[in-house]
Amino acid sequence: MNTSALARLASIGMLCAVLPALAASAGTAAGADPADNGMLGTTDGMQIYTQICQGCHMSEGRGAIGAGYYPALAGNPNLASSNYMAVTILNGRRNMPSFVHVEHPEFFFPTTWLSDTQIANVINYVRSHFGNHYDNPINPAEVAALHTKESKP
Ligand code: HEC
Repeated sequence: MNTSALARLASIGMLCAVLPALAASAGTAAGADPADNGMLGTTDGMQIYTQICQGCHMSEGRGAIGAGYYPALAGNPNLASSNYMAVTILNGRRNMPSFVHVEHPEFFFPTTWLSDTQIANVINYVRSHFGNHYDNPINPAEVAALHTKESKP
């Protein structure tokens, strides 16, 4: 077995370890449409931030500059536009991946994706935490309207 096959097996092992933990975090959004829970099993903005965004943007959205460039989401004037945030999450931006739901039949495990409800909730969480005080939340329908033709599932 070559190294890349080994690496792939190792990453599947990691996924197997992580997925039950993600599923266990379900239940914070009682009454919500289960389809909105996507692959994370939660629509809670804080949990989505912690599980998905924090790995790159760090706790408290403080960002990191060193081996890479991960902009701070605290005190970042670009967050004044919730649409800018939504388009960034939907389409990705340079080294940030897209979180839109696309089928990749060539992979046998799904890429990480977020529903429109999850995207709206994580945007509203970030824009009202880490010292951010934007009081004009975005809703899932507004996120849905920002899907480009290319990023639609
Ligand atoms: C794999 C690492 C990674 C993850 C995970 C990630 N991002 Fe990013 N993000 C980046 C990078 C890198 C950039 C800078 C892109 C660039 O060069 O302009 C960025 C840019 C952004 C920007 C634009 C900032 C600006 O000033 O232009 C926002 C907003 C953002 N991310 C929010 C999020 C949110 C919310 C999540 C979780 C759903 C998230 N990101 C997950 C790496 C990541």
